[in-house]
Amino acid sequence: MDDSDQPVSEFWLYGYGSLIWKPPPHFDRRIPGYVTGYVRRFWQASEDHRGTPEAPGRVVTLIERPYWESLDDTYHSAPSKVWGVAYRILPERVAEVKEYLDIREINGYSIHFTPFQPADGSQAFKTLVYIGTPDNAQFVGPQEPDQLARHIHASKGPSGLNKDYLLGLDRALDELSTESTDEHITDLANRVRALDASA
Ligand code: BEZ
Repeated sequence: MDDSDQPVSEFWLYGYGSLIWKPPPHFDRRIPGYVTGYVRRFWQASEDHRGTPEAPGRVVTLIERPYWESLDDTYHSAPSKVWGVAYRILPERVAEVKEYLDIREINGYSIHFTPFQPADGSQAFKTLVYIGTPDNAQFVGPQEPDQLARHIHASKGPSGLNKDYLLGLDRALDELSTESTDEHITDLANRVRALDASA
């Protein structure tokens, strides 16, 4: 056991973006829950998945809450819990999954560790999480909601339309728990649906 009371051999990955509905390979458990101390925002440029180097799209990252509070964000509030899922990766496949994730998602993200609280109230445990911190080159920071929605609506990359990533995240959060709504995500999704409807 380590100091979080979980066997040291266990490897858990926390997903707060596309991992919620696009699981990594080689997991044997998927648990809904949340982390605290962060704010989820569409503040990371994507040059390799939902955009291109010439026209980067936008994907989510986590902002440390005290830093977010120091910024002038149009979305003045954010849930205290960032809902997502934790995946337990089979011990013999951990290296392979890390390599898969690095290839799939690394564009500016770095590896961090954070306690994850399962929704069923069972004991929290340590998870690995990919975060695009404010010092990475892809970090965009606060954007005006209408401009951000238009940007997402117009962007696409090798993994598909940027709006499908946003709408997929909105749907996945809806399905996760009765508490997992994130106003930043639903507002952007509603704006993108309105753009679609007026096209
Ligand atoms: C996620 O889906 O949680 C995620 C995965 C890789 C990088 C950033 C977020």
